[in-house]
Amino acid sequence: MPQDGNLDIVRSVADLRSRVKYWRDQGLSVAMVPTMGALHQGHLALVRTALELADRVVASVFVNPTQFGPSEDLSRYPRQEAQDAGLLDQAGCHLMFAPKVEEMYPDGFATTISVKGVSQPLEGAFRPGHFDGVATVVTKLLMQGRPDFAVFGEKDWQQLAVIRRLARDLDLPAEIVGVPTVREADGLALSSRNAYLSPEDRSVAPALHRALQAVAEGLKQGKAAEELCHRAAADLLAAGFASVDYIDVRDADTMAKVLKLSRPARILAATKLGGTRLIDNIGVEP
Ligand code: PAF
Repeated sequence: MPQDGNLDIVRSVADLRSRVKYWRDQGLSVAMVPTMGALHQGHLALVRTALELADRVVASVFVNPTQFGPSEDLSRYPRQEAQDAGLLDQAGCHLMFAPKVEEMYPDGFATTISVKGVSQPLEGAFRPGHFDGVATVVTKLLMQGRPDFAVFGEKDWQQLAVIRRLARDLDLPAEIVGVPTVREADGLALSSRNAYLSPEDRSVAPALHRALQAVAEGLKQGKAAEELCHRAAADLLAAGFASVDYIDVRDADTMAKVLKLSRPARILAATKLGGTRLIDNIGVEP
């Protein structure tokens, strides 16, 4: 067995299971950080949280094809495994699980996990099949590693809500932990897709966070969600965004529509800037 403390890389489910069993036999707890690689400070914040929660941390790096639609950016999604491994090592992560597509989806693979309700609006409506792909791969990862904790970013809030729902529904033993979004100084949420932004688009991008904050302020003043979101979408288009898929106020757990702020809610938005799709969200309390 390798020395604990240095990052080790495994590519098969069997090797992942044997490393986790080795730790379990010593009475150690395990946290998992599922990622698609192209790691940035946002991911490293997830690893730091995982290290606070558990004795050993596994990060998976797998660009999951089933969560990309036919017209989406699967082939150009950034892949930089050696750099990811270096960052995970420096962050103190113990194991990187980097399976090939054939390991996760062998010939004959025929099962899809589909979460109703919470996965249907917003991203679910604009990216049909996306959350089925996420739910399926996350279920597999959590069954493969069987961690005590699984750590996800709040940047993909609806994804987090879908994963919490599926973990409850399928009695997955891992505790699902959300970590607040890491932002640049100007408010732009860190994302692997920010690498696609031209310098000009990059200067426009922080308007997304400002638009969410404006909706939050209006809600706290008792204004109606629909009107605030309508105005925020117009402001984004005026700022230079190519389109706004949605900007909406939703119940933080169920993703049901919120018309007026009466309990904690989430303001979520998806936009296009240049050719890049940017999503973001913030919480708001009455
Ligand atoms: O958030 C992501 O990076 C992915 O959707 C996840 C959770 C790793 C599943 O592929």
